[in-house]
Order: sequence, then C-alpha cells, then structure tokens
Amino acid sequence: MTEKPLIIISSRTGNTLAVGHAVCDALPGAVMMRPSEVPDDLTPYNPVLLGFWCDRGDAPEEILRIAPRLRNKTIGCFATMGGDPEGEKSKAWMQKTSEKLVAMGEGNTLAETFLCRGRIDPEVFQRMTDMLGGTVSPEREAGRRLSETHPDRLDLDRAAQIFGGFFGGSW
Ligand SMILES: Cc1cc2nc3c(=O)[nH]c(=O)nc-3n(C[C@H](O)[C@H](O)[C@H](O)COP(=O)(O)O)c2cc1C
Repeated sequence: MTEKPLIIISSRTGNTLAVGHAVCDALPGAVMMRPSEVPDDLTPYNPVLLGFWCDRGDAPEEILRIAPRLRNKTIGCFATMGGDPEGEKSKAWMQKTSEKLVAMGEGNTLAETFLCRGRIDPEVFQRMTDMLGGTVSPEREAGRRLSETHPDRLDLDRAAQIFGGFFGGSW
C-alpha cells in the first residue's frame, strides 16, 4: 500500500488550520485531521506533518501527546505564533520545539519547519494586558497590530511551497 501524507493540526482560533489547508492542498493525497481524530494505526501514513501554535512557549498539549506515537516517520513541523517569527529567539524556538517533538517518538527524522505570525485572539491579548498591569506598551501594541493580518497569502504560499516542494514530488 502506498503511504499517504498525514497532517495533524492543533488550532484554537483557526490560524494554524488555515496554514494546514494550504499545505494539504499542495500535497496530493494528503489527509488532514485533528489530534483527537488520529487513528491508532499510523502505518499507512508518511510523512507526518505537525501543525501547531505557540502555547506559552511550547507546543500545545494535544500535539505533545501525539508526538510519542510517531515511529519511523519523516516529519515536517509548521507553527503560528503571536510574536515575530523572524526573531532569532522565535527561530530557535521553532527548531528546538520541532526537534523535541520528533525525538519524542522513535526513528523519526525532521525534514522541514515553517513558522509564521498568527492573529492574537483579542480576549487572550486583553488577559495578558491585565496580567501585565493593564497598560499596553507601544512595542506590544505594534506586535499585536502586525499579527492582525496573519497568516496572510504570502505565509500560505510559502508553507505550501516548502512542504509541497519537499514532499510533493516523491508521492
Ligand atoms: C493560551 C495562549 C498562549 C499563547 N502563547 C504565546 C506565546 O508564548 N508566544 C507567542 O508568540 N504567541 C502566543 N500565543 C499566540 C498564538 O500562538 C497565535 O495567536 C497563534 O496564531 C494561534 O493559532 P490558532 O489560531 O491556530 O489557534 C498564545 C495564544 C494563546 C491562546
């Protein structure tokens, strides 16, 4: 049986889901599902793409729970975050988190990663503001505004190009 690409998506407000759809469209035969829908038997699937959002500096719990089940897979990781994805810290976060997820299973290899901005849920932003004493610094406000329009068309195209290019040809 030919293996199919599997895309597992964690998305609270739809940003990562939008990237997932773009990647799915770029990968012929790919199947996309939520962590709760992932079947017990993962033999029919390879590569496996993990799509997630930055949750307080980590991958969300549901992705951390799935990762140990991956065995002998070629893995791609993509994520969205409220912060600046081009910053050195963010890039290092993406690499470290992806490597951690890949190492949670056995015999997996990390093929590609992709990180972009994702609109911050206004309720979450307000809660953070309250925790920070109720005032929004100009830097935080600038970051929030920059995230408002993401993922945008360029983000989606880039993700499709990276994963479609890497995995698309071989299936
Ligand atoms: C509980 C929570 C924690 C978050 N923590 C971070 C964080 O540590 N760093 C960051 O850059 N963005 C953080 N964000 C912003 C999200 O990662 C970002 O908006 C993402 O695009 C949401 O993706 P989704 O729409 O697929 O759920 C957080 C959002 C929430 C709701």
